[in-house]
Amino acid sequence: MTNATAPKEHSGDVRLSGISKTYGSFTAVHPLDLTVPQGSFFALLGASGCGKTTTLRMIAGLEEPSTGTVCLGEQDVTALPPYKRPVNTVFQSYALFPHLDIFENVAFGLRRRGIKSVKQQVGDMLDLVQLGEQARKKPHQLSGGQQQRVAVARALINHPKVLLLDEPLGALDLKLRRQMQLELKRIQTEVGITFVHVTHDQEEAMTMADTVAVMNGGRVEQQGAPADLYENPRTTFVANFLGTSNFIEAEVAEAGGDDVVLKAGGGKLTLPKARCTAPATTGGRVLVGVRPEKISLTHADDAGAIPDGRNRITGRIADSSFIGVSTQYVVNSPVCEAFEVYAQNIERDPRLVPGADVVLHWNPAHTFGLDADQDAEAGVEKVEEDA
Ligand SMILES: Nc1ncnc2c1ncn2[C@@H]1O[C@H](COP(=O)(O)OP(=O)(O)O)[C@@H](O)[C@H]1O
Ligand SMILES: [Mg+2]
Repeated sequence: MTNATAPKEHSGDVRLSGISKTYGSFTAVHPLDLTVPQGSFFALLGASGCGKTTTLRMIAGLEEPSTGTVCLGEQDVTALPPYKRPVNTVFQSYALFPHLDIFENVAFGLRRRGIKSVKQQVGDMLDLVQLGEQARKKPHQLSGGQQQRVAVARALINHPKVLLLDEPLGALDLKLRRQMQLELKRIQTEVGITFVHVTHDQEEAMTMADTVAVMNGGRVEQQGAPADLYENPRTTFVANFLGTSNFIEAEVAEAGGDDVVLKAGGGKLTLPKARCTAPATTGGRVLVGVRPEKISLTHADDAGAIPDGRNRITGRIADSSFIGVSTQYVVNSPVCEAFEVYAQNIERDPRLVPGADVVLHWNPAHTFGLDADQDAEAGVEKVEEDA
């Protein structure tokens, strides 16, 4: 889809073509093609060790790719040293100059290029990150979040085409991290520069990014808008790594119409064919997935009141935790151990306690189907705090 205006429109793109990195016999990043549209907020999401930093460092020029090319806009920068690339990087450890005040930290890039009148630009940058009042303080007098904003201002003042951020919020506590996520998103929207943000935190990636690429073992498993990835995961890894998914292994009973009808245990489940990425042939196996917040719990005594047409399975509550906005239930079902159900705390049925027999039911439209040859537990393990 090229046209005459394409080069201009795409001048800020990051394009990786067949880029890979091997260390001896170990492949950290498998040949990877990735396009980051200009002006977008792009997140590379994955567990520790999956190759995020390596990918980012290849964009920055800090790591030489084993194969492939890096283009920034129209320019092939693969052979350029880092300082000649129109990119800047913000790391988890903000590494500000401790002896310089905030103003001078931000002015650093300009001064190094011999620019004398820095006042206006530094002032604008400090306003952008809302630290105008702190200009004459030293880094150690600021909070972690403020220091990280200085690091962002210090990078942005060089007017990079692309800002690379490697777990920039990793050292902050949860509440501050949430605040900074919104803050970074605001800054990106305001400056309109392409941000490539690396994180192992799925909530962070979904909050901030226009597009999320989920990495696993040196490969991008899937990329898309956060809601699309969440609702339509194509692998169990993505389904489990982004939030929580329940899986039921089922057998295809009928696949003639718009819906796939499946047998699980003694019951039947319905899955829209358009949401089934596995080959649906009669007698074949499919992993039926459904998110915990899509499911309703009804006490077995009231099962008759459940409307027709909903997918339903039976089970017994094994555990429940009151979270405030929701109650999270673990339900053991003959078709699935440890089914997770999140119920909003609106009207709580006091009978829904551990030991209660229940029916779990949901709208078939909220069901997705995946290839049953995959490990249903892929991506489940808890990620360490530091990546
Ligand atoms: N210089 C290196 N030499 C050997 N192995 C490396 C080197 N740098 C990274 N690796 C390995 O490559 C893999 C990916 O690392 P990295 O890109 O840092 O992952 P992430 O940022 O996703 O945590 C890891 O298994 C890591 O141990
Ligand atoms: Mg890393």
